[in-house]
Amino acid sequence: MFEVNSNYGELQGSYLFSEIASRVAAYEQAHPDADIIRLGIGDVTEPLMPAVIEAIKKATDEMASRDTFRGYGPEQGYAFLRDAIAEHDYKALGADISADDIFVSDGAKCDTGNIQELLSPSSRVAVTDPVYPVYVDTNVMAGRAGSYNKEAGQYKQIVYLPCTAENGFDPALPKEKVDVVYLCSPNNPTGTALNQLQLQKWVDWARDTGALILFDAAYERFITQPDIPHTIYQCSGAETCAIEFRSFSKTAGFTGTRCAYTVVPKTVFGQDASGTKVSMHDLWLRRQTTKFNGVSYIVQCGAAAVYTPQGEAEVTEVIDRYLKNARIILDGLAKIGIKAYGGVNSPYVWLQTPNGMPSWDFFDLLLNQAQVVGTPGAGFGSAGEGYFRLTAFNTRENTERAVARLGNLSLT
Ligand code: MLT
Repeated sequence: MFEVNSNYGELQGSYLFSEIASRVAAYEQAHPDADIIRLGIGDVTEPLMPAVIEAIKKATDEMASRDTFRGYGPEQGYAFLRDAIAEHDYKALGADISADDIFVSDGAKCDTGNIQELLSPSSRVAVTDPVYPVYVDTNVMAGRAGSYNKEAGQYKQIVYLPCTAENGFDPALPKEKVDVVYLCSPNNPTGTALNQLQLQKWVDWARDTGALILFDAAYERFITQPDIPHTIYQCSGAETCAIEFRSFSKTAGFTGTRCAYTVVPKTVFGQDASGTKVSMHDLWLRRQTTKFNGVSYIVQCGAAAVYTPQGEAEVTEVIDRYLKNARIILDGLAKIGIKAYGGVNSPYVWLQTPNGMPSWDFFDLLLNQAQVVGTPGAGFGSAGEGYFRLTAFNTRENTERAVARLGNLSLT
């Protein structure tokens, strides 16, 4: 019989959000009349904005005519979108990123999951704890994580950097030699963000130690405070040691439409087994041209519309709406004496479970007493235990109803 990839056997349970979905489905089956409000998975509820829809319709019409029809597009993405990204998301902030450094893709989840293919199997990987599970699980699949230590709730070869209220959600630099670190700011799940000094510290460390930073900035559009960098390339030297991931999912409601991009500057180099310098840009280009045929023209036209004056205004309106939801959740939690973080530069609110309740117990309590779904902190790592994530992505009405229900919880 053929042999499977045994590394999959090291994965713990099912993917966090599948596990939650199946628990909620079981609850729904047992309580068919339950009016469940979902503040669990970070999926948006506002529809695509008019500027995007108009662009998508126009592009669809082009595809309907023999004169303007397009087949395969450039694997790296159409120049019109990459130029707009470089101009608006980087040059406007003084970050020296060119269209050529940008690879358009169908999701930051895929890109943050796929990027580890470029690393040696023996690379030492560090993640913050709690962490977006994709970073860890994809390294487990690749055999880079070692076996699982059940007691610690951690993989033996991954370096975990606690990121909790105790250290102000500012993870300490690794003490041991690390080749790669995943950072996410504004952070999923904690909703907190690294300021300029805190992020510069990581860039300086990476340059000093020869490490690579994989920087996930999928929630950049939610930043409201002036000292939070919008891109790691606002830090000096980052263009030599960092790859950045961005997405239109949360920015412009593309979770079901799929469009994202990854920035791999031509100045980021690793080395091969013989010590020869290798360009990460060249490797990623080779990987993408081999395994990916690009995002559809129609969708890229929709994404480009985000950068028009109309698109920018519409995006701002939707983001403000979600941020207001986050404020409503934060205020509601404060009213019932629950300490919470995030929600200011992020759509995620990270609360401390009442009386130190285990986070899966709080998940059950919330579902049973209030029919509200959230995400248990323990699902993001052992340092997430005692925390719980609520998203601001539901509608205003549902957010207000959920908060009212939280006020009626019986917590003793
Ligand atoms: C989340 O809830 O953490 C997000 O939906 C994850 C994702 O974007 O894949």
